[in-house]
Amino acid sequence: MLQDQITPTLSAARAREIATAFDLRALPADFLANPYPVYTALREREPVRQMPDGSVFLTRYADLVAVYRDAATFSSDKHVEFAPKYGADSPLFEHHTTSLVFNDPPLHTRVRKLIMGALTRRAIADMEPGLIALVDSLLDQLEAKGGGDLIEDFASAIPVEIIGNLLGVPHQDRGPLRAWSLAILGALEPVVTPAQHALGNQSVSEMLVYLRTLVAHRRRHPGDPEHDVLTRLIQGEVDGEKLSEVELLQNCIFLLNAGHETTTNLIGNGLILLQEFPAARAQLLADLQATASDAAAQEQVLTLAVDECLRFESSNQLGNRRALKATQVGGVDLPAGALVTLCIGAANRDPAQFPDPETLDLRRATNKHLAFGFGIHQCAGLSLARLEGRIAIGRFLQRFPDYRLSAAPTRGGRARFRGFLNAPFKLG
Ligand code: HEM
Repeated sequence: MLQDQITPTLSAARAREIATAFDLRALPADFLANPYPVYTALREREPVRQMPDGSVFLTRYADLVAVYRDAATFSSDKHVEFAPKYGADSPLFEHHTTSLVFNDPPLHTRVRKLIMGALTRRAIADMEPGLIALVDSLLDQLEAKGGGDLIEDFASAIPVEIIGNLLGVPHQDRGPLRAWSLAILGALEPVVTPAQHALGNQSVSEMLVYLRTLVAHRRRHPGDPEHDVLTRLIQGEVDGEKLSEVELLQNCIFLLNAGHETTTNLIGNGLILLQEFPAARAQLLADLQATASDAAAQEQVLTLAVDECLRFESSNQLGNRRALKATQVGGVDLPAGALVTLCIGAANRDPAQFPDPETLDLRRATNKHLAFGFGIHQCAGLSLARLEGRIAIGRFLQRFPDYRLSAAPTRGGRARFRGFLNAPFKLG
């Protein structure tokens, strides 16, 4: 059972061996199925692991927080890193180096402010009825079929609609969004094949063609900037600068992708965890039943559960920064220019921060996990992602308390984005 597999019980010698051999660009065959023993070995033996390419790989919670906090030293700008990776004149290079997440202030600040202006608490609350209707209609279809695929028929069908609504992408145009997103984010993997490169570049080019038409239409027919992120990005701040056309298009691509695979993985990982941990599932069901007449209490139960799923199986396992000057992390000297990989998946299982970190505790009350990052780049869509997680996981579980996987789920095969591509299940 998964619970046995993920309990990292390594001898000291084996842990040392794993830690000293670790190279993100040459991962052991079984790493993707279960990276946690490797993370434990690194955290205990080589928490600031110098990799053969000269970069460092961090696994301790406190070290990640220190890097996230110091955005003046640890840059998110990826021009230096991505020029050799993608080629400086490639669509992937232009896309990733123009999106807010891979920029420092001032571009980052300008774009973030515009996005946050349309992702207010009120705007997110207004999305809830539509989200509930969407989830219930998907559940009706699954019930009629007696099961289906947790990922294809449910988890991935939700974010595509939500993020499509956020940018006002017409329903009939949403078909290619998931494949584009998988291809563009897939090109961020530590090692990328020529075929993945080509698909990533092609996907950026296709999205640009599509978005140019969408933006031109929205310029002629603006939406409500309180709700429509695209209208807000087009109009810019009232007294401030506007985004250039390239900044606008590339940040729309980023937004469409950012809220997509990550949220699919939250919902998919969550439902698969509940299958693998029957006691946690039974407890959650009981807590939901006990709070059935109190919407606020039920929301609280689900909020804790969703955050624990995010901690335990973080959708986004890795982040990256570059030291702009000589500095130190975890007591280790880093030269100016050092590339740093932040292992969110490992930090979220750090016993120095989380009591019993290898236990899935859906009632965990203090849970300052790093699944959404931290600091100036902390996920702009975290409230929306949490809402999607609560509604999707909560309603699925309550409607189908006895769902069971009918075959082993298939992983996406990625080190950075942790999730499944398929997970067939049956009802009853
Ligand atoms: C479970 C779902 C999600 C996870 C785990 C997640 C994770 C993350 C992480 C770790 C970062 C920080 C990257 C860094 O510091 O380098 C980030 C940034 C971001 N996310 Fe999310 N995300 C999720 C859903 C969403 C959704 C639904 C949206 C869209 C509304 C979104 C929009 C963004 C944006 C715009 C940024 C860039 C923020 C900035 O650079 O200031 N995310 N996300």
